[in-house]
Amino acid sequence: MAKPAAGWIPLFKKRFVLFVVVILSVSTVFVCFIRGASAPCDPPRNGLAAAVDRAKLPRHSDVDVGARKNPLGFMRTKLVLLVSHELSLSGGPLLLMELAFLLRIVGSRVVWITYPKSEETNEVTYSLEHKMLNRGVQVISAKGQEVIDTALKADLVILNTAVAGKWLDAVLKERVPQVLPKILWWIHEMRGHYFKLEYVKHLPFVAGAMIDSHTTAEYWKNRTRDRLKIQMPETYVVHLGNSKELMEVAEDSVARRVLREHIRESLGVRSGDLLFAIINSVSRGKGQDLFLHSFHESLKLIQEQKLQVPSMHAVIVGSDMNAQTKFETELRDFVLKRGIQDRVHFVNKTLAVAPYLAAIDVLVQNSQARGECFGRITIEAMSFKLPVLGTSAGGTTEIVVNGSTGLLHPVGKEGVILLAKNMVKLATHVERRLTMGKKGYERVKERFMEHHMAERIALVLKEVLNKSAAHSHS
Ligand SMILES: *[C@@H]1O[C@H](CO)[C@@H](O)[C@H](O)[C@H]1NC(C)=O
Ligand SMILES: *[C@@H]1O[C@H](CO)[C@@H](O)[C@H](O)[C@H]1NC(C)=O
Ligand SMILES: *[C@@H]1O[C@H](CO)[C@@H](O)[C@H](O)[C@H]1NC(C)=O
Ligand SMILES: *[C@@H]1O[C@H](CO)[C@@H](O)[C@H](O)[C@H]1NC(C)=O
Repeated sequence: MAKPAAGWIPLFKKRFVLFVVVILSVSTVFVCFIRGASAPCDPPRNGLAAAVDRAKLPRHSDVDVGARKNPLGFMRTKLVLLVSHELSLSGGPLLLMELAFLLRIVGSRVVWITYPKSEETNEVTYSLEHKMLNRGVQVISAKGQEVIDTALKADLVILNTAVAGKWLDAVLKERVPQVLPKILWWIHEMRGHYFKLEYVKHLPFVAGAMIDSHTTAEYWKNRTRDRLKIQMPETYVVHLGNSKELMEVAEDSVARRVLREHIRESLGVRSGDLLFAIINSVSRGKGQDLFLHSFHESLKLIQEQKLQVPSMHAVIVGSDMNAQTKFETELRDFVLKRGIQDRVHFVNKTLAVAPYLAAIDVLVQNSQARGECFGRITIEAMSFKLPVLGTSAGGTTEIVVNGSTGLLHPVGKEGVILLAKNMVKLATHVERRLTMGKKGYERVKERFMEHHMAERIALVLKEVLNKSAAHSHS
């Protein structure tokens, strides 16, 4: 009897230390790094992986890959140039970095440039560059002869985000036409100011575009045709996948419990309370204001109908008083006016979403207008078996199965009361809520894992290589 117990305690301690390290390194170190408004639709992510790296804890990602046949294996001898518009902890660059590592694992030669390179090297760019160098990614200057030679020699050039298009004319100049046939353009955004010829005039002539959701792809097709009078190249939709690091936490019940208790304690909520959360940078586009209206409505409904439900709380993860002062003030004023300050919790922007996903019961994805390009937080939440209450827009509609893994409501004011009702539904029907969470998890395992993303990307890369090879022979 004594043995298993003795074995279990150190294991538990090790894990406990691990997750405390993650939480601490995130709240004390990473919070200072986060940039203001980041360009892509998806908010900063993957901080957990970064935090674990910083703490120099063992990694497993690279070790077990040999077992399954790697779909990217054919990239082994290829030279790939990656062009990023920035080196930061925001969604776009982190995704490109994930791809860089997937390619390194199969033995591709990977060269990374950042254009425009920011003048100051801060601690973030320094640590990200080192992370890449450690994994064998070459980081070179975005200007000068070396990068031009690399672009000409490369089997494949991947431009990340629309903005990265500026690099072509600025650096390659008269060589642009030689490089275009081997460019794959990965696009993660759909806000108006990206539809500029300055960025995307070469788009029709590249080998292909890769976009995170069908809705976003269709929107790009419409906008480039109607506004810019240009035509999209061959376009591939590639849904994103959850990183291995996130899945490791999501599937570790001890870790989840430790994180859940820690975060709930820090928020001052009890273990039986019901937490609805939005995890997105606070801005009108992400719909935190309407979410709070819905939350208030749901409390009224519960009172009016005298429903017996646990104490409900709303959590807004992604606050940044400095960046969105007016909107943030508006949210806090609303909370004070309605007298719900003991039930609404604001949490500063953070890269470590895993602790919050472990702590909450329902994710609300309330992005307005055209919604999310994809919305990585949605699949991340589903991996923690959380049901999702989402707007019926953008990528969310391609992830959430209405009625099965969550419930959808319309964008705008007309969605407010529906979201409120859906919140009450999940509060009163515990069994339904848990089943939805499980269904969501199954859906993630079926199609939103890192290896699914790698498989989808592999198909695209194969076609693009084939096309550029055909081009260079003709
Ligand atoms: C694109 O345009 C078509 C009609 O031209 C329209 O039906 C569709 O809703 C538009 N899609 C998006 C995502 O804007
Ligand atoms: C959250 O950010 C604000 C400023 O943006 C800062 O004053 C406050 O101390 C931060 N809170 C925590 C818990 O870090
Ligand atoms: C979602 O499903 C509910 C029924 O479960 C239905 O009333 C609602 O109209 C659906 N919404 C969308 C956007 O499909
Ligand atoms: C490459 O393209 C050619 C011509 O379109 C086709 O016959 C061939 O099967 C393709 N190869 C691969 C690997 O996709």
